[in-house]
Formats: sequence, structure tokens, C-alpha cells
Amino acid sequence: MTRPAICQTSLPGREPDKRGKVRDIYDLGDNLLIVATDRLSAFDWVNPVGIPDKGRMLTQISLFWFEQVKNLCTNHLISANIADFPAEFQAHPEIFEGRSMLVRKCEIFPVEFIIRGYLAGSGLKEYRQQGTVCGIKLPEGLVEASKLEQPIYTPSTKAKSGHDINISPEEAAEVIGKDWNDLASATAIRVYERARDIAAERGILLCDTKFEFGVREGKLILADEILTPDSSRFWPADQYQPGKSQPSYDKQFVRDWLETTDWDKNSPQPPLPADVVEKTRAKYLEAYTRLTGKKDL
Ligand SMILES: Nc1ncnc2c1ncn2[C@@H]1O[C@H](COP(=O)(O)OP(=O)(O)OP(=O)(O)O)[C@@H](O)[C@H]1O
Ligand SMILES: [Mg+2]
Repeated sequence: MTRPAICQTSLPGREPDKRGKVRDIYDLGDNLLIVATDRLSAFDWVNPVGIPDKGRMLTQISLFWFEQVKNLCTNHLISANIADFPAEFQAHPEIFEGRSMLVRKCEIFPVEFIIRGYLAGSGLKEYRQQGTVCGIKLPEGLVEASKLEQPIYTPSTKAKSGHDINISPEEAAEVIGKDWNDLASATAIRVYERARDIAAERGILLCDTKFEFGVREGKLILADEILTPDSSRFWPADQYQPGKSQPSYDKQFVRDWLETTDWDKNSPQPPLPADVVEKTRAKYLEAYTRLTGKKDL
């Protein structure tokens, strides 16, 4: 049976210190408790209706990947076991279990480390206009969803509000310093390559993905969620066909439905109808099951 969606969390007498678009964040001093809710954002607006279990699926997918790539880079995860959380959170497993991670707080770089192995999204748009992605020249003749010869680092700024803006690797180096930029981007590419190979064994192409890195005690730390359908484009390998847009394991149904409404992308979204919620949930569930091999949540 599907549980009801959890779109906001709180404790008796305590609200989260921050609500991102999807995650509620509780500041525990040296650590954070990051709780993935069932909120869904599309075109940078959060829908008033949640997708049941989405937060649990995202958290479990991230945990799977943190385990798979743990020897490539230190990450921020301390524990996802509710028994390791502060007592006030342990008292509410119905809210926090399965969807929360206790992590080390880091100084997050104001750059998104996007790695692309295929041409899609804003990368495709820039390539069509200028033959480049984030200023990186690509061979002529590529089409939508073409596989790139090698994965490329195409950073963007983490905008405080509104859309993130693509920048060149050189501009990212100016923002965070060349040494950190070199180290984090090389690490991001290694993590991408490992994940791409593991996903391929499970019938999924990892088109592109976004990482966040931070620093703690002078060390590079892989933070945030990693390699989820919210931070990545996953495509079913058996339907891969360059030259057109690919079906994907994410909120495509939501975007498509919103495009059929008269919503102006500049005001609160209309609530998702039940069938769009159900189809979207099924997509997330399929990605979760294919990647982790688990059927239950
Ligand atoms: N280890 C960490 N230390 C500090 N901040 C972290 C860490 N891991 C993740 N974060 C931050 O937690 C937030 C996660 O929430 P969410 O993804 O919902 O936010 P968002 O909508 O992306 O909003 P924002 O624009 O604030 O990033 C992000 O701001 C991310 O940078
Ligand atoms: Mg985020």
C-alpha cells in the first residue's frame, strides 16, 4: 500500500533550519540531518502535491551510490540509520526513517559539478547554437542524445534564486580556485565513470549528472545527494536512439503535463492530477528497483 506523501517535516516545537526545494535540513551544529521529502520541483517551482515515497527512493538511491563509490572520494555521509540520529528524530520513525541522512556539515562550493556523457538539455541547446558546451568545443555532426567521446565537465553556478547559469571550467576555477576546481572536477569524472559502468550493467544509461562538493578540515568532500533521478538524467538503454529526445526515469510526465496547462512558469504550479502523480511515482520506483535491485521501500 502506498503511504501518503510527506511534503513537509518538523518536530514538536522545531521547524527545519532550512527548506530547500526538496530537502528539509536540520542543523545539528557540526552535522546536518538532511531529510528528503516527497516534494517535486519542475521548472524551479515546487508542486503543491507530493509524490508518495519519492524522498525515500531518492535517499536509498543516494545511499546505494555512496557505497559504490566510497573509495573514490571521502563523502559526507555519517549514517542513514535512525538509531544514530538525535533522540527527537528517533521518536518519529514514521516521518524520518528511510528518507534521512546524518551528514558532516561542509563548506559547499558555489559551483555545480555537472558531468555529461551524452548530449542533452542545456548542453544540446548550446551545442546547436555554438558547437560548444560550457565553452568546450565538441566535434561537428552530433545530434540530440549523441554519446560524447569522453565525459566532459560542464559546471554551472549555484544561483541563490532562479536558474543556474552554465559557465566554463575556467570560470569555475576563478570562482573556487584552480586547485580545488581541478581536484573536484577530476573526482567528479571518476565518480561519473564508475556510476556509468554500474548503471550500464543494470540496463540504464547515465546521460549526465550533477555533483556538489564541499570542503571540511581542508579536505574535499562529496556532498548532497548523488546520482539520483533528481540530479541526473537516466535513460533506459534498450530504448536508446540518438537523434531524438529519450524517455527518462524522472519527472518527464510532470513537465509534459505542465506544458499542457496554461501555467506561466512564473507563479505557483497547478496541483498535479492523480494519474500524473502515479505515473511519476512508477518511474522513480523503476529507477530505484533497477539500480539498487530492491523492490520494497
Ligand atoms: N554536507 C553538506 N554540508 C552543507 N550543506 C549541504 C551538504 N550536503 C548538501 N548540502 C546542501 O543542502 C541543500 C539540499 O537541499 P535541496 O537540494 O532541497 O536544496 P535546493 O533546492 O537544491 O536549494 P539550494 O538552492 O539551497 O541548493 C543544498 O543547498 C545543498 O547544497
Ligand atoms: Mg539541490
